[in-house]
Amino acid sequence: MPQDTPSNDTLHVRDSRTGQELALPITNDTVPAMGLRQLKVQDDDFGMLSYDPAFKNTVSCTSRITFIDGGRGILEYRGYPIEQLAERASFEEVIWCLLEGDLPSRGQLDEFHAELSGYQAISDTVAKTLAGFPRDAHPMSMLMALVVAAGAQEPDARNVRDPAERRAQAKKLVARMPVLAAHVWRHRKGLAPVTPDPSLSYAGNFLRMVFAESDDYTVDPVLEKAMDVLFTLHGDHEQNCSTSTMRVVGSAEASPYNAAAASIAALSGPLHGGANEAVLKLLASIGSVEAIPAFMEKVRNREAKLMGFGHRVYKSYDPRARILGQIAHDVFELTGRNPLLDIAVELERIALAEDYFKSRNLYPNVDFYSGLIYQSMGFEPEYFTVLFAIGRMPGWVSQWDELMGDSEQKIARPRQVYLGERQRTVAPVDER
Ligand code: CMC
Repeated sequence: MPQDTPSNDTLHVRDSRTGQELALPITNDTVPAMGLRQLKVQDDDFGMLSYDPAFKNTVSCTSRITFIDGGRGILEYRGYPIEQLAERASFEEVIWCLLEGDLPSRGQLDEFHAELSGYQAISDTVAKTLAGFPRDAHPMSMLMALVVAAGAQEPDARNVRDPAERRAQAKKLVARMPVLAAHVWRHRKGLAPVTPDPSLSYAGNFLRMVFAESDDYTVDPVLEKAMDVLFTLHGDHEQNCSTSTMRVVGSAEASPYNAAAASIAALSGPLHGGANEAVLKLLASIGSVEAIPAFMEKVRNREAKLMGFGHRVYKSYDPRARILGQIAHDVFELTGRNPLLDIAVELERIALAEDYFKSRNLYPNVDFYSGLIYQSMGFEPEYFTVLFAIGRMPGWVSQWDELMGDSEQKIARPRQVYLGERQRTVAPVDER
């Protein structure tokens, strides 16, 4: 494992079954799990394994893309703090940064914009796939299918061991996401798709493809900036569920389109990206500030979850949730205050003061306020996670590219402890 700070430190383990002792090297605060295999009772034993359901304490890779300090609420892409990226860089700059490792120069950015625009034509396969979906199907199901369909026009995407091909496909995926997502939106509304406009920013082009009712539609700069920052906030988040999915599927040398479709499936779950939709539905179902105490009672009794709260990694305020506060302010000034905001603010106030939440380090995450902003921008709750997926695609493909270039990686294949029955006899069906 590459090491930033060389160390001679070791972890000493003693197996009480045999008295065998082992010194495992400590590297970057980790010990190699494979080192445990040396611990055996009999020579022909398989050897010791570590047990970690849900990978709560398992490092599966080294990475140079995203840094999170969950205790201090720090998030950085390629070393740049999320607060500065949100304020000073466009989402296109952030995409480049995630993919290439640093922020682009003006020339690189202009070239990148033109390259992405050149990839935005959509194939017949995509249009036909979408036409097969009923209009009320969930948008995440449609998006997943469209990403697979877009991959069908890219046979070279299977050359996953070719770094140049990987880079090209990564850019194509990022370029096509807003177009596919806009197609999904328009299909649900029974509207014809809008052709991409290369003169617009990534976020502006997307909003136009979604909302334009005529050729002279112009994108409001406040909404364009909000969309841009929202995409940036979702850009990457190290080894979360959907990104790990991208890596696991990618490790089998599957095409990045198929791996990304699997990531979209993972993201759609309400414990992950689907939480933004779940929060909005929850706020609407609570209905009023007066109804909050009864809902909180259910949470305390474990009959309900406060969606948009809690995080596997953040044990303090999610820094993305803080930035959302400013965006919410700007958007609501333009569109009017979202009536559900009062319920959200009161829920947060009560939760931050309650022992149930304090003792478990539960704070608002990125999904708690993002849905309110999306709704005020004109999006429907079912569509919120699609917006998350557009923002996250650069992270997925950057992580996939890093994985494929990592000589320590192999096909992902966890182990299990088998606790089921053994050696049973199959009786004929009529005798059971
Ligand atoms: N409401 C009420 N209780 C909660 C919540 C919540 N939102 N989140 C966690 N808890 C409780 C949980 O019941 C457990 O209690 P106890 O220790 O008494 O059994 C304790 O807090 C620890 O939670 P956990 O489920 O063991 O933690 P985890 O790391 O496995 O799960 C989580 C993290 C995000 C899935 C979880 O906090 C959750 O379900 N939150 C609501 C869904 C959500 O907002 N998801 C979006 C996450 S951020 C964006 C993204 O990743 O997509």
